[in-house]
Amino acid sequence: MNKLTHCSLAVLFLTVSNASMAEMSIDHSKMTQHDHEMMMKHLGMSKEESAPVVDDQRELVLFPEAEYHLTLRNMRDHLRGVNLALMNVASGDYVQAAEAIEQHLGFGNSHGANGLHSAREFMPPGMQMLGHGMHTKANALAITLRDAEITEDSQEIFSKMADLTSQCVACHDAYRLGAE
Ligand code: HEC
Repeated sequence: MNKLTHCSLAVLFLTVSNASMAEMSIDHSKMTQHDHEMMMKHLGMSKEESAPVVDDQRELVLFPEAEYHLTLRNMRDHLRGVNLALMNVASGDYVQAAEAIEQHLGFGNSHGANGLHSAREFMPPGMQMLGHGMHTKANALAITLRDAEITEDSQEIFSKMADLTSQCVACHDAYRLGAE
């Protein structure tokens, strides 16, 4: 082997090892939309979930700082109410499930720093309607749950529960919050 061959072998080796190094680390910025979708599919995420954040078309609604934090806390409490209700339904405690819904999602559930629904005034009309709709569906669910004590009609419970969570989904699809 002459000197030149040695040299080119070394270059070849370096090139190959560099190439395989590059293959090992994924550069997300160079990924195409198709690559991204394939990766998310592989990770078990739906196309909607994997849509890049820049595609966010939801309307931004600005709340004053205190209202913003209180509203998000209230949201987490809504989810807690749904969760509590489902747990109680699972163990056949329909009245307790109804109480969880009334307490965490009913009309008495206050929004805003002063507990007087003050956050409402910062909501666009469409958002107000969805919020009102959510409380209405929550009340209907609570009535069905109390009836279930006698009827044991779980199909009706699921139907009313789905009506309620549809309101959550509709609003989450349309709006996002920011603090000003
Ligand atoms: C009237 C509109 C509306 C309704 C109805 C609604 N939400 Fe929300 N919720 C929002 C908005 C807006 C956000 C903030 C989303 C964002 O900025 O990305 C939010 C955020 C949340 C969060 C995240 C809280 C956090 O700490 O970040 C949870 C959990 C949540 N909502 C649960 C629920 C559940 C459960 C329901 C139904 C029972 C529900 N929401 C109904 C508007 C709504």
